[in-house]
Amino acid sequence: MKEDDGQGRGFVCGYHGWSYTLDGKLVAVRDKRDFVDIDFACHSLIPVACETLGGWIFVNEDEDEPQPLREALGPVAAELDQFQPETLTLVDSRSYDVGCNVKVLLDAFLEVYHLKSIHQNTVDRFLDYRGTTITLWPGGHSRMTTPNRRPDWVDPGTIGLPEIPTVTEIPRLNNVSYYIFPNIVMPPAATGMPMLVFWPVTDSTMRIECHWFSPPFGPEGRSDLWDKRISNFERILEEDTQFAPQIQESLESPGFKGMTLCYQERRIYHYHEEFDRRIGRNRIAADLRVEPVLDSWVEPA
Ligand SMILES: [Fe+2]
Repeated sequence: MKEDDGQGRGFVCGYHGWSYTLDGKLVAVRDKRDFVDIDFACHSLIPVACETLGGWIFVNEDEDEPQPLREALGPVAAELDQFQPETLTLVDSRSYDVGCNVKVLLDAFLEVYHLKSIHQNTVDRFLDYRGTTITLWPGGHSRMTTPNRRPDWVDPGTIGLPEIPTVTEIPRLNNVSYYIFPNIVMPPAATGMPMLVFWPVTDSTMRIECHWFSPPFGPEGRSDLWDKRISNFERILEEDTQFAPQIQESLESPGFKGMTLCYQERRIYHYHEEFDRRIGRNRIAADLRVEPVLDSWVEPA
């Protein structure tokens, strides 16, 4: 089955033509006589756990004991409920290749300390980075809430778009951004949101996928305003990625001896602590792991 959607009745391997039912049972093998005593029951596709949050499907490749989705997402799941994820409609999907390690760009989405120099003429004009409130949650997840510089400011890219009526005051009047460990960033607004997914490609290259979601379209369909909104975002993304290859180069240079993070950047430190925890601190060389210091600042789930 190659289609993204539709009415497929099963799967056929494009290479040797083995066929499977939709639930993964092997039903036909080309030249079966050449597989003496083959037991179809032992050749099913590998099952993976999958759960949904609204229309988003999360696959869990842990074969032994997959953690329930809501538990894995922590408090983010409950906070996203107000955006009615079950009603959201996909507006646009695109991806961008960037010449840096995946963590370099992820870091850029977890703090606003860089606004003053990188986004001088864009984000910094409307967001007050010094007013940011940060919440760290167990499991590496976190939230960042940045106030607008002016209380009556509205993102021009969203004016005229329909709103999700159940969105509460804080995300309506501020810029709220969630980090879902290990690789999703989502800044939801009442008018919709991008889901940004960060993928490593090699040690020094990465891909960011941007999937845009909107409250249900009215009879007029997808608004042209989305093109403007997405191109505004692309301008900001370009600002964020402009130095990525140079940052990567400096990370690889013998002159790089580690970095010092400030209080405003603690979401970055938080996810590095979580990476170490998952890998096992005793399995990481002393100069490659971070000292766990944030435990008492993590809010219970
Ligand atoms: Fe940025």
